[in-house]
Amino acid sequence: MTPSSYLEQQFGLTGQTAVVIGGAGVLGGAMCAGLLQAGARVIVADLTEAGCQARVETLKQHGGQVGYCLVDVTSRNSLELLLKDAVAESRRVNILVNAAGINAGNDFLDASEADWDRILAVNLKSIFLSCQIFGRHMIEQGGGSIVNIGSVTSHLPLSRVFAYGASKAGVLNLSRNIAQDFALKGVRVNVICPGFFPAEQNRKLLSPERTDSIMRHTPMKRFGEPEELIGALLLLVSPKAGSFVTGAAVDVDGGFMCSWL
Ligand SMILES: NC(=O)c1ccc[n+]([C@@H]2O[C@H](COP(=O)([O-])OP(=O)(O)OC[C@H]3O[C@@H](n4cnc5c(N)ncnc54)[C@H](O)[C@@H]3O)[C@@H](O)[C@H]2O)c1
Repeated sequence: MTPSSYLEQQFGLTGQTAVVIGGAGVLGGAMCAGLLQAGARVIVADLTEAGCQARVETLKQHGGQVGYCLVDVTSRNSLELLLKDAVAESRRVNILVNAAGINAGNDFLDASEADWDRILAVNLKSIFLSCQIFGRHMIEQGGGSIVNIGSVTSHLPLSRVFAYGASKAGVLNLSRNIAQDFALKGVRVNVICPGFFPAEQNRKLLSPERTDSIMRHTPMKRFGEPEELIGALLLLVSPKAGSFVTGAAVDVDGGFMCSWL
């Protein structure tokens, strides 16, 4: 077997359909590109037409099959329509990536209840809803793989992002709980915990002081590049290479989680 056919057998996604929620975003977009290049048909799912269209245009350079559907992850109805559209387009969904997310930074006493509700709805309740809706479909179709995007703050508190931290800790706990529930039903559920990658949702939060502090705690002394998430993603979604991996949290963080002093 040649190296490329071995890699294709281990990690290839030909014939699989992947829905990437938050696919118009910075990290979701890189993950769409990785899935597409590994052979999957990709459906970009995000809030706005303009965001989805721009992402699809960029992805077309990789060839393969890519389309988009609009979704608001805070709405069960909207997620059900997304599944319906995805199934109409490609019969079944094999892979779901949950990469939508929002953030807000404040001192605790200034953190607003409205932000708390919004962040918990977009970052955490969306995982409950989408894993139920897509999980049921995958079980009925004979299997699948779900990857939810956590954060280093799934493991420990980061200052000033109270609702975000609580939501991401919830993403990890909930994902592991669903992973055990689905383990004998053919659906694997895993979490990628990225470190720090400059993107839209954290642009305002990355002040020079915070960036300094992040670098002091990141042994590799740099931000991540979105493409650096693809290797972990392909392992987790691959029916062959990832077949015995469920309930895992893969940190892609330049060593942030191993740096305590
Ligand atoms: N960038 C980082 O450093 C970092 C680190 C850890 C975790 N994350 C997580 O990675 C994921 C992707 O974030 P990103 O950094 O690429 O940010 P981003 O802002 O570039 O992308 C987030 C996407 O989510 C979409 N979105 C927001 N609300 C939505 C809703 N209600 N319905 C559907 N889509 C919605 C946005 O339109 C956007 O395209 C998020 O879950 C984020 O929390 C990011």
